Amino acid sequence: MIFREWQSSLFIKIKHQSQAVTFFTRPVLMKKFKKKEESEVTTKMCDCKTTDSRENILDGVLAECGFDAGNLITVLQKAQDIYGYLPIEVIYYVADKLGITPAKVMGVATFYAQFRLEPVGKYLIMLCKGTACHVNGAESISAAVTNELGIENGQTTKDGLFTLKTVACLGCCSISPVMMINDEAFGSLTPEKARNILKDFRKASSEEKGGLA
Ligand code: FES
Repeated sequence: MIFREWQSSLFIKIKHQSQAVTFFTRPVLMKKFKKKEESEVTTKMCDCKTTDSRENILDGVLAECGFDAGNLITVLQKAQDIYGYLPIEVIYYVADKLGITPAKVMGVATFYAQFRLEPVGKYLIMLCKGTACHVNGAESISAAVTNELGIENGQTTKDGLFTLKTVACLGCCSISPVMMINDEAFGSLTPEKARNILKDFRKASSEEKGGLA
């Protein structure tokens, strides 16, 4: 069903959190999701006997939202909190439970910048390149972060710790230049301050691991 709807357009637009837009040709996107459809989608999310606790939590969210398609954005926000992003299996599952097409759910998930369709690292860095941050040195912060982590916008470090996304405005221009790491904002950045913050996160993560060992 979903593919039938998508077949009507030659290019499919995926809008990322960074506001960047990727165009997939129809055959490429169909191949990408067809593979999923044939494997996990049909075997995992449609299996009501699954013991995945995240699915149980998602079921609770759907019930709280009354299985109402009018609450789709809320459901997707909570699903993203549960999974860290919106896997294609979740798109299908939510569509099934809300009685709407996967294409409709995908349309909402790709329209709003807040939704992620790919997994991200443990720490999601949102680096602001809006006007206020730009005039206050966002480019030098970006260069420092890129050099420190060895990744560009949209990439995740090999150790899975950091994902870097550039955004247009984080809504706290008075403390520009700004970056957010997960839910925490860091303002009045300098390149050195940014590098030290990243080192602190890396250190905290390895200490956590050490504590668990
Ligand atoms: S422009 Fe960076 S927070 Fe607004």
